[in-house]
Amino acid sequence: MLKSIGVLTSGGDSPGMNAALRAVVRTALFEGVRVWGIYNGYRGLLDEEMEEMTSRSVSDIIQRGGTILGTARCKRFMTEEGRMQAYENMKKRGIEGLVIIGGDGSLRGATQLSLETGVPIVGLPGTIDNDVWGTDYTIGCDTAANTIIDAINKLRDTASSHNRIAVVEVMGRHCGWLAMLAGIAGGAEFILVPEEEYNLDDICSGIIKSYEQGRRYSLIVVAEGVGSSLDIGKYIEEKTNMDVRVSVLGHIQRGGSPSVRDRVKASQLGEKAALALIAGQSDVVFGFNQGKVVAIDLHDAITNKKHMNDEFIRLAKQLN
Ligand code: F6P
Repeated sequence: MLKSIGVLTSGGDSPGMNAALRAVVRTALFEGVRVWGIYNGYRGLLDEEMEEMTSRSVSDIIQRGGTILGTARCKRFMTEEGRMQAYENMKKRGIEGLVIIGGDGSLRGATQLSLETGVPIVGLPGTIDNDVWGTDYTIGCDTAANTIIDAINKLRDTASSHNRIAVVEVMGRHCGWLAMLAGIAGGAEFILVPEEEYNLDDICSGIIKSYEQGRRYSLIVVAEGVGSSLDIGKYIEEKTNMDVRVSVLGHIQRGGSPSVRDRVKASQLGEKAALALIAGQSDVVFGFNQGKVVAIDLHDAITNKKHMNDEFIRLAKQLN
């Protein structure tokens, strides 16, 4: 059984990371285990930015977006030398294992560290992209989708008033999950995701046809991984001869107070991660599958590519 663990958040922040952190810290303390908060992701491990946490360190954070620990994308940690330095800094403080809360890239860094040093690592999928293999859920995606829905509702007001086509670009690097969820929930006519081929000419003729049948405006959600939404908007405007406005939602999607779903699920995952690490488990990521917490092999999580849900693709087309 481990006596002292560390926790860090890494990569893009996501709403619910604080709830996960809170659960890790309080679970560890409840089990009589010391817990260190490491600031600014892997960079904090290298630069020794860390402090021991108490229950009070994580008070008043469950409702806050972002991450109170801070996060960073750290190039030095990508080198073996950097990772050895991180390991030495952990040893100095008696930190025997780590909980890493982050996305795909962060979990990759964790695997390397565990491989080279034997340090036990437990991961939690913290990203709005929902791009981690083996889990239906990642911390923050629900809140981000709700933020997008709020924007879509507003864009509908103005698009319908002007009979325009609204193109909305949402985040998701190489992954269309966020776009797909928000697009379905927002009632988009078309949802363009990198996982699914699309034909802009077909979309344009679809729009023209639907206007002829009485549609007054159109809403198209584009995942950033598809390409430039500005180019897509321009093409549609030229082809349909209709008024198009493009909105790139950007980092607004990453902020905000976490939804109930993100708070609860992040808390469940945080507890599991702390208990598993304390019990000596390693190289595992906790996620959800069909509503149940599941343990995913860390190596599998980073080597497999997450597929888009076929049912969602079908539904999006059917309901447009
Ligand atoms: O991975 C989360 C994410 O928000 C992606 O959706 C997006 O492409 C990227 O991070 C943006 O990163 P940054 O905050 O470095 O601009």
